[in-house]
Amino acid sequence: MRAVRQHAYDAPLVVEEVPAPVVGIGESLILMTYGAVNPLDVWISLGSVGAAGPLPRTPGCEGVGTTDDGQRVAFRGAGLGIVRDGAWAEQVAVPDVALAAIPEGCSDQEAAALGIPGVTALDCLDLTEVGKGTTVLVLGASGGVSTIAMQLAKTRGARVIAQTSSSERVGQISRFAHEVVVADAATLEEEVRLLAPEGIDVVVDPLAGAFAAPCVRLLAAGGRLVLYGASAGSEFSFAPQEMYRKNARVIGYSGLPVAPAATARSQEALFALVAAGTLEVVIADELSFDDANIAISRIRENSVGGKLLLKP
Ligand SMILES: NC(=O)c1ccc[n+]([C@@H]2O[C@H](COP(=O)([O-])OP(=O)(O)OC[C@H]3O[C@@H](n4cnc5c(N)ncnc54)[C@H](OP(=O)(O)O)[C@@H]3O)[C@@H](O)[C@H]2O)c1
Repeated sequence: MRAVRQHAYDAPLVVEEVPAPVVGIGESLILMTYGAVNPLDVWISLGSVGAAGPLPRTPGCEGVGTTDDGQRVAFRGAGLGIVRDGAWAEQVAVPDVALAAIPEGCSDQEAAALGIPGVTALDCLDLTEVGKGTTVLVLGASGGVSTIAMQLAKTRGARVIAQTSSSERVGQISRFAHEVVVADAATLEEEVRLLAPEGIDVVVDPLAGAFAAPCVRLLAAGGRLVLYGASAGSEFSFAPQEMYRKNARVIGYSGLPVAPAATARSQEALFALVAAGTLEVVIADELSFDDANIAISRIRENSVGGKLLLKP
């Protein structure tokens, strides 16, 4: 079968013929229809995540396909693409606990785009107790996670303010947010205060770096900032008084330690929202396995604006 393969870190991926996967006890063979591309795949390609995994291996931490009895399923996690062969192959062996059923009304593309971004968005809103009346600031609003987070927050009755670095993406983002600000880290606080002088209850932050300090300053009393990525930089600082004098909380989130079965149930809940017409998935592009290096480059350059999928 054909598979994308990583032979070394920070080196081009190659597409090659490899033996079909060995299916272990408690696993199913999945015939792949789509693999999804996430920033996590970039970190893995560079070796900053999963460096202890064996090489060569097949990348791809999530995807969609069919079981041998024709069931459409999605999967993510369980070490796929990190410590064992992942989703960017014609066939993948997947632990049964990681399989999520895809219902009628949710396409393979939608399901493939929802695994990591959807569950991250859902978990971040749960962790920060977003509900009716919460004012939420979502950073990097055109991103995969943020697009879902804005919609879920709105459904919960929150007021959603979105930040984007890109004026060209305002139209797309406006469909999911009540208000959109085009701002960098230097202008964010001023732009958001114009809209919410009373402060922000919850910040959903994939950026960190220079964005962290203005976000902490923007928090209202009892505010929560959930930090789940570092797209704008791994180093940040803020005055502790900005946090403790407001009884504010800064919370970290990673999906990697979440149990595969819990993740699969969250995926199914998201698929049901798509099938019910209350959640929209923005697919930026579908590329072939042969274009895996282009996909990685587009994520690194922040030139996607939606979800990237890879087809066998
Ligand atoms: N902890 C976890 O479990 C977890 C799960 C999923 C993702 N993540 C992390 O969360 C981040 C977002 O993931 P994603 O899948 O939503 O990524 P994505 O689809 O690539 O979106 C990221 C968005 O952030 C903004 N952005 C990217 N680089 C930027 C920079 N240097 N400065 C300012 N803005 C920048 C862009 O939005 P605008 O164009 O609108 O500005 C971009 O669309 C990544 O760092 C990823 O590794 C973590």
